[in-house]
Amino acid sequence: MTATELNPFLAGNYAPVTDEATVVDLETHGRIPGHLVGRYLRTGPNPMGEVGPNHHWFTGDGMVHGIELAGGRARWYRNRWVRTDAVAAALGEEAVGGPRQPMYDSSNTNVVGFAGRILSLTEGCYPYELSPELDTRRRLDVGGPLPHGLTAHPKVDPVTGELHAFSYWWDAPELIYHVLDPTGRLTTTEPIRLPAPVSMHDFAITRDHVLFFDQPAVFDLGAVERIGFPYSWQPDNGARVGVLPRGGGAADICWYETEICYSFHPMNAYDDGETIVVDVPAQASVYTTGQVGGADESPRLERWRIEPATGKVRSEVVDDTAQEFCRVNEARLGSAHRYGYTVALGADLPYEDSRVFKHDFAEGRREVHDFGAGHHPGEVIFVADPDRGEREDGGWLMGLVHHDETATTSLCILDAEDVAGDPVATVHVPRRIPYGFHGNWVPGA
Ligand SMILES: [Fe+2]
Repeated sequence: MTATELNPFLAGNYAPVTDEATVVDLETHGRIPGHLVGRYLRTGPNPMGEVGPNHHWFTGDGMVHGIELAGGRARWYRNRWVRTDAVAAALGEEAVGGPRQPMYDSSNTNVVGFAGRILSLTEGCYPYELSPELDTRRRLDVGGPLPHGLTAHPKVDPVTGELHAFSYWWDAPELIYHVLDPTGRLTTTEPIRLPAPVSMHDFAITRDHVLFFDQPAVFDLGAVERIGFPYSWQPDNGARVGVLPRGGGAADICWYETEICYSFHPMNAYDDGETIVVDVPAQASVYTTGQVGGADESPRLERWRIEPATGKVRSEVVDDTAQEFCRVNEARLGSAHRYGYTVALGADLPYEDSRVFKHDFAEGRREVHDFGAGHHPGEVIFVADPDRGEREDGGWLMGLVHHDETATTSLCILDAEDVAGDPVATVHVPRRIPYGFHGNWVPGA
């Protein structure tokens, strides 16, 4: 059997595309809101060349897909590999330059706008800066030192404009908490020792605290041959959430035991009187097989209340439907949120479902947008509508939807106040965009 037949992450719409394209003046149905001037960017793995049957989805060369909107039109679609040194060499191009990666060279997980730059991110690596047309400019160490690179899930504090981030590595297990000022300069580096070298994919901030998730996905080089990825599930290691006061040092962090689980992407966290609330997609295991999904349990949405007075974390299930890719209106990041947005997951592979969820935590209910059989949404992001003031859901949800029958993709724009309703606009991309990871809206002409 070929690698494609043996590995579902090399088949169907997980399979990489083999070229870079520019398509202008995209066909659109509906009305693209005039306030949407900028680019929707989303990245994911798109391995170049041959890979083996135990290729892990998380390790492929990164490709960024972008759609520029302005004047009510979709002006272009572009897809570009991020020029890591290996990708540049394979394309016969000069290396882009910048500081050498501290550990390994990858850039496939997230793409964010910050301090006037577009940054392509993978945990453990330095960011790559991209041009607005998605050309790779250079690697950045943001003034450094960043001995373990940077997480792919930094948080821009909507009040201070700072960027909060962290990094981690297996050797002398530690995480390092980082803060960049609004100009993009590294200002805080606080190392925190860990009992074991665990994988920390994401974290959370509140107004007063920073939360880290020490969960038993443990670095294990022996797992590479078995599953193509250097982590294994070791539940005996326990699971804890660390609460660091903002501005505090390593000695100030308090750890609280939680249920044994893994959470890729916490939705948001906030201080609530004497407790700290964090909404998380919690799955019972991860890295038990060669891929995400499969034998790993599906994530369900939970609300955790961290109680410093009792030292306990109380959890309740918000929604036991399999779902992930949690997002909120990021003006609420670190503060109480009423709404959160997720994507339903399939039982075996991440993007087999057709639904996007809007959770209303005040009313305890869920609204659904169902794209229908054969139409598969990825992560959706919230973009605020300036005409709708402070309303938390006053804006749009944007994300890519894959269409099985035509092997094409749409950028779908939903009204976040009417998630179940017809899309506000649908931009048709006459190409296949492989399923990927994360995206963001980067405003600007
Ligand atoms: Fe992620």
